[in-house]
Amino acid sequence: MDKIKAFIIFGTRPEAIKMAPLVLEMKKREEIALTVCISAQHREMLDQVLDIFEIEADYDFNIMTKGQTLADITVKVLDKFNQTIKDDRPDIVLVHGDTTTTFAAALAAFYNEVKIGHVEAGLRTYNKYSPYPEEMNRQMVGNLADLHFAPTNESKNNLLQENKDPKSIYVVGNSAIDALKYTVDTDYYHEIFEWLGNDKLILLTAHRRENLGQPMLNIFKAIKLFLKENKDYKVVYPVHLNPKIKELANSVFDENDNIKLIAPLEVVDFHNIMKKAHFILSDSGGIQEEAPSLGKPVLVLRDTTERPEGIAANTLKLVGTSFEGVYQALNELAHNKELYQKMAQASNPYGDGTTSKQITDIIINTFKNKDC
Ligand code: UD1
Ligand code: UDP
Repeated sequence: MDKIKAFIIFGTRPEAIKMAPLVLEMKKREEIALTVCISAQHREMLDQVLDIFEIEADYDFNIMTKGQTLADITVKVLDKFNQTIKDDRPDIVLVHGDTTTTFAAALAAFYNEVKIGHVEAGLRTYNKYSPYPEEMNRQMVGNLADLHFAPTNESKNNLLQENKDPKSIYVVGNSAIDALKYTVDTDYYHEIFEWLGNDKLILLTAHRRENLGQPMLNIFKAIKLFLKENKDYKVVYPVHLNPKIKELANSVFDENDNIKLIAPLEVVDFHNIMKKAHFILSDSGGIQEEAPSLGKPVLVLRDTTERPEGIAANTLKLVGTSFEGVYQALNELAHNKELYQKMAQASNPYGDGTTSKQITDIIINTFKNKDC
């Protein structure tokens, strides 16, 4: 059998973290000739992940610009990836999740009639603007894909409801858990633990497009008041490199607040600091998947989630983005021990860390049997 020519493409930090274990797994298999393409929709935040997993891209489209629009990203990825596919003619293109790189890359593959495998398929809110534009990106890629790698039965059911062919859907867990196997270290130490002392750590991240502006300002002000009234808590906030976010955070917090605004952390640091945290405050998607496995409560700074598994496991609580909602949720979790205990139980809705191996096996079998 000829080698299967597989392309993996990704562009942002979360895609890279969850595709890295798949890259490493596919590289080990003699049945596969793998090409890694990066759009570099993110630059520094993507390179951090590539360095940690020691992955070198075969193609780097280097598209990121400050203040890029969704249309900028789409046009550049479509154009550059289209050309690469035309030149190299892969058998299959693997995309991940819901970013604009994901959508534009899948569209380029479709235009060239190349098969598409969608990793982390079938997550839905069915609310077009939440998360924005990710919900529609994911739905559109779902319509283009030939193989759907759904993390859970819930996501599989969403795809079945949309009349996707049951034979094209595989429940494989989430490769976020594969990544945690590489990163979490029981002997981990970071200098930030000195600053923390005996206080309790809240880890904060916030970056969603729909939260920019007033919602993020509400969140920051609620945290500031909570910290003023609860001196036994400290917040670590690795600030996303979007300049709008940095500006807003600097305008609200100052050195008197018990908060450290730091640069984005490398993923090994981030996962281990997550493990040390008392709880997490975040609008991130990926963190909602990692937290149940680490047993860390997350107050989710959103009105909707496409990740209901963490809610069912009691790890996640949707708290929205109003000042009152966030302030109350912080106080409740900080002072209600029963609630905290209920939310801090570890569970594994996203599998046992074998997602990359399962996906690789499925691709090899699919091409071997030529029933794709
Ligand atoms: C993107 C994804 C979002 C994902 C998030 C992960 C889309 C539409 N959005 O959103 O789904 O949750 O990544 O973090 O695909 N920047 C840098 N350096 C970096 C990264 C970003 O300077 O390494 C700055 C740039 O000014 C860039 C801006 O951040 O223009 C926004 O980046 P962009 O990828 O457009 O949006 P995100 O909010 O990061
Ligand atoms: N993460 C990281 N460093 C940070 C913040 C987050 O490595 O400073 C990791 C986190 O563990 C998760 C991923 O980045 O794996 C989530 O990325 P992000 O929140 O930017 O995107 P989303 O998941 O919302 O698309």
